[in-house]
Amino acid sequence: MRTVSGIQPSGNLHLGNYLGAIVQWVKMQDDPGDSLFFLADLHAVTVYHEPAQLRANVRELTAALIASGLDPDKAILFNQARVPEHAELAWLLFCVARIGWLNRMTQFKEKSGKNREGASVGLYAYPVLQAADVLLYNATHVPVGDDQKQHLELARDIAVKFNADYGADIFVAPEPLIAGPMRRVMSLRDGSAKMSKSDPSDMSRINLTDSDDAIAQKIRKARTDPEPIPAEPEGLDGRAEAKNLIDIYAALEGCDRQAVLDQFAGQGFGAFKPALADRIVATLSPIRTRFEALKDDAATIDAALEKGAARARELARPQIAAATAAMGL
Ligand code: ADP
Ligand code: NA
Repeated sequence: MRTVSGIQPSGNLHLGNYLGAIVQWVKMQDDPGDSLFFLADLHAVTVYHEPAQLRANVRELTAALIASGLDPDKAILFNQARVPEHAELAWLLFCVARIGWLNRMTQFKEKSGKNREGASVGLYAYPVLQAADVLLYNATHVPVGDDQKQHLELARDIAVKFNADYGADIFVAPEPLIAGPMRRVMSLRDGSAKMSKSDPSDMSRINLTDSDDAIAQKIRKARTDPEPIPAEPEGLDGRAEAKNLIDIYAALEGCDRQAVLDQFAGQGFGAFKPALADRIVATLSPIRTRFEALKDDAATIDAALEKGAARARELARPQIAAATAAMGL
């Protein structure tokens, strides 16, 4: 088993990223087989960006991942741009992928909006770079959120077509992995929207860097309803905000929804919220302390990334050699 996961270096991490992805990553580094984690800086440049800000974001996100428990001695942690084989393989795969396949990608339609003709070629083609990101390492499993399933399908199609076109078993078609303890952490202000860094309201999310007081305040103000906490999960039907808070508690505690209901049934959210805030603080406050200690230590962060890139390149080079040879290059 070999897993590859990427994350865009764009600003603060939040509780959704933590419960939806990072918790699982931290577990995966102890599973047998290599676990590769990369910061997708080559993806970040598909849209307008400030160069200095991007560099700062890469370091900040690296510090946040290490603070969250990713160990650069166990996991292979690096930024994409320092492993040129990603871009090299992407070119080979551009010549295998079909324009019709890319035209079906719904995310490009969403991200380019009305100004499709004005979007960068990189934004259009980046699902092929994503395919290269995982095929480069013959990843067997890729953790994907719902929004990325279509891109993983594309990677599988590219792997199959490359092998068929060049009569070789060079690429493994990767399988999706179920996400972390909570697939969708919802906004604290609106139970029908995902918690996201792109939500303009900071009250909608818990950032990994929020102070204990800020966490308590955001949970206190989180939207709920006047009904008490039910004894059975069915009692949460149609109560998206209430269900979300219960599920966050369960995910942090590592238990199921029923166990939380058993503990709090009959109480109102006025009583539950302080317990939830304490539970979040207990998890995030040590992460924040480690992050604060590491975030300005550029030398340590860069050294971790460099080591990860060297290890990644060792795995990538034979795969590039095999693919170019198969293509007659
Ligand atoms: P955002 O939606 O804030 O821009 P990203 O798209 O950068 O976050 O996601 C990084 C990782 O975190 C992905 O694996 C994604 O599936 C996961 N993730 C993001 N938001 C949530 C959420 N609200 N609930 C669960 N997982 C999430
Ligand atoms: Na592992």
